[in-house]
Amino acid sequence: MKATARAHTNIALIKYWGKRNESLILPANSNLSVTLDGFSTETTVHFQEHLTEDSFILNEQSAEEDARTKIAVFLDKVRALSGKEIYAQVQSVNHVPTAAGFASSASGLAALAAASTKAIGLSLEDRELSRLARQGSGSASRSIYGGFVEWQMGEREDGLDSYAIQVADASHWNIRIAAVVLSKTVKKVSSREGMRRTIDTSPFYAGWLEQTAKDLQEIKQAIADKDFEKMGSVTEANCLRMHATTLGANPPFTYWQDNTMRVMQTVQGLREQGIPAFFTIDAGPNVKVLYLPEDEDKIKTRLNAVEGVEDIIISKPGSGISYM
Ligand code: PMV
Repeated sequence: MKATARAHTNIALIKYWGKRNESLILPANSNLSVTLDGFSTETTVHFQEHLTEDSFILNEQSAEEDARTKIAVFLDKVRALSGKEIYAQVQSVNHVPTAAGFASSASGLAALAAASTKAIGLSLEDRELSRLARQGSGSASRSIYGGFVEWQMGEREDGLDSYAIQVADASHWNIRIAAVVLSKTVKKVSSREGMRRTIDTSPFYAGWLEQTAKDLQEIKQAIADKDFEKMGSVTEANCLRMHATTLGANPPFTYWQDNTMRVMQTVQGLREQGIPAFFTIDAGPNVKVLYLPEDEDKIKTRLNAVEGVEDIIISKPGSGISYM
């Protein structure tokens, strides 16, 4: 009753921002991401009869209480699905090129969903796996697949139709995504709290929801057509609107820091010089930059010169779940 799985993290081009059901993790809007080959989590789950509780080793160290609870709550769902009352040892390693402070919940929960269901003897289709991973962390629903992935919000209140599907595989489009690692990053508001506060209090939220549905249609067309300018400009505008909702919340907040703004301005400056580059930002200060492979040298040189940039990690579109 042991299995190992690997999943890559993903970056949303059309953001998931706000839940319509917090306990089932049902999003208020459909969203879309690209899976990144540069960041992954490898997880081994070993169910054993003699264990009386779950344990969790992360990067070779016993994990903190919060993380252990999150794992146990997730494994409760896997036990319920299988009908087996059995506990597990879970070991995870995050493969992130530097101590970058990038969120690993998407790859972490996707790898856990895959390894734990296999170890306990369930054989789930990708959609079922995506639906399960969603209940660990919303963005993890997308990391089941490689390439370009849409998480369809669904309509049902029980969440059965809320899972991700692949829109195009990793080989469809040879784009690059640079993860720009900033110095001195402090994450003050978790994505959970940020979403809750925004949906509850921001008068901009209704506008965000209305526009994001249109953005999703446009970006799917741009991906199908491999129209980089279109894909990039929709991505950047969608990111800016998501972050605008936080400024309208009560109390207001932002994820941006001074170095976040400097990177954004540098990307816009690159475009003014005719180099197609576009940014996107999640619930933290770090920036991801989308560009085409032929511009890599220029992009790296310019981003490295920005004050407050510590490192740049380059990804291509990555693959979905794999088993070791
Ligand atoms: O899946 P969570 O709870 O980590 O939320 C992710 C939220 C964003 O990263 C801001 C957007 C997204 O779609 O990934």
